[in-house]
Amino acid sequence: MARDQNESKTVQTDDASGRGSVGDFKVSFPARMRSYKEAEIEVVVDVMRNAEAQTQGQYMRQFQADFEEYTGADHAFAVDNCTNALRLAAMRCELEPGDEVIISGYTFCATAIPYGETGAQIVWADIDPDTWVVDPADIERKITDRTKAIVVVHLLGMPVDMPAVMAVADEHGLRVVEDCAQAPGAQINGQHVGTFGDFGCFSLHAAKQITTLGEGGMLTCKFDEDAELIPGLRHNGARAYPEGRERYWDPAMGNVDLDMAGVWPKNFCLGEAQCALGSEMLKSLDEINDTLIEQGEKIKAGLADTPEISFAQIPAGYRHVFHQFVLHFDGADFGATRNDLLDIMAFEKKIRVIVQYHPLYRYPLFQKLGAGEQDCPVLEGWWGDTFSFPWWCGIPDETINYLVFSLKETIAELKSR
Ligand SMILES: Cc1ncc(COP(=O)(O)O)c(C=O)c1O
Repeated sequence: MARDQNESKTVQTDDASGRGSVGDFKVSFPARMRSYKEAEIEVVVDVMRNAEAQTQGQYMRQFQADFEEYTGADHAFAVDNCTNALRLAAMRCELEPGDEVIISGYTFCATAIPYGETGAQIVWADIDPDTWVVDPADIERKITDRTKAIVVVHLLGMPVDMPAVMAVADEHGLRVVEDCAQAPGAQINGQHVGTFGDFGCFSLHAAKQITTLGEGGMLTCKFDEDAELIPGLRHNGARAYPEGRERYWDPAMGNVDLDMAGVWPKNFCLGEAQCALGSEMLKSLDEINDTLIEQGEKIKAGLADTPEISFAQIPAGYRHVFHQFVLHFDGADFGATRNDLLDIMAFEKKIRVIVQYHPLYRYPLFQKLGAGEQDCPVLEGWWGDTFSFPWWCGIPDETINYLVFSLKETIAELKSR
């Protein structure tokens, strides 16, 4: 049920987020998505004051263990961002020019760049019209004898139908990478995203549910063979010599070796202060997701009597964590477009609505690098009518009411034109 709409008029006019307004919008994305709790500040300061190692020490090991426990993953590796988690997974997929990799067409560019740069051909997969994330049936349709890997994205916090994706992948012997950047804590029947496929790639960027001082990531993996190679690939091929060398300097302090034939290793390490903060922040993740879900449900309830607006349908047993809040507008009956709607929402209602994701094959980057072809009719017929509300964890009720009320008023105005 919608709340009393008069309440919405009490929204603060210049700082609805409580953390700084942007431009002359009444409601915008806050410049900083989240404040740190005292305990989170303290663990960082403690590492600064007391920790001996500043990188790859006890805090990294603890954060990885905490992440494994939280998600149920077999292995977890802290990295400097999710893009590089995706890159490590791409390296392990052993993609080469001539191979094909199937990737969801509806996502952020970082999902696809580490795969495109291998020289493999990106084949874009369509979305499911109900859940708005990748459609396993379309993945199956696009498999050829050159396909080597599938990259799915739990976009906006919505889990992809992983049991269906894994059934397809197992039948064809394909590697599966889950981009979980926007979905830490999302689950299907109690199983966390990032634990279905061969790899799960998580982001701890400033805009995500939890952040390790602005940048950070985690790579989870299922197979011991991959887990054994990740530390070297993550850190310049570095490893210790066997214990007990009398001449500890001979031939050098540490060894550097090759983990994968023909593959140069990288440095994707995450520092100790960030890892300590990650462990502390993980304690709040469920609560943050609960708040995001509650906000999403309030907006959906407020718009339940507005058939022109629709939302992704959440299958039973799925925990969709509402990392972003995307809506679909259908004004065809009264000749109104999404842009007509957003003109009023942005310029009159002063709500900084945005269009978040463009299908990747539409961007010049992918077109110029040979990945501009697509066969995604569902996505093509859908994305142009979507938009996002300003979104952060802890949106006050009066702001939620203002968003709902403004959208209803705008649609009424468009209908009366
Ligand atoms: C779907 C998706 N994948 C990957 C990334 C890359 O994450 P990071 O910024 O940690 O490299 C992002 C970041 O926004 C994302 O939204």
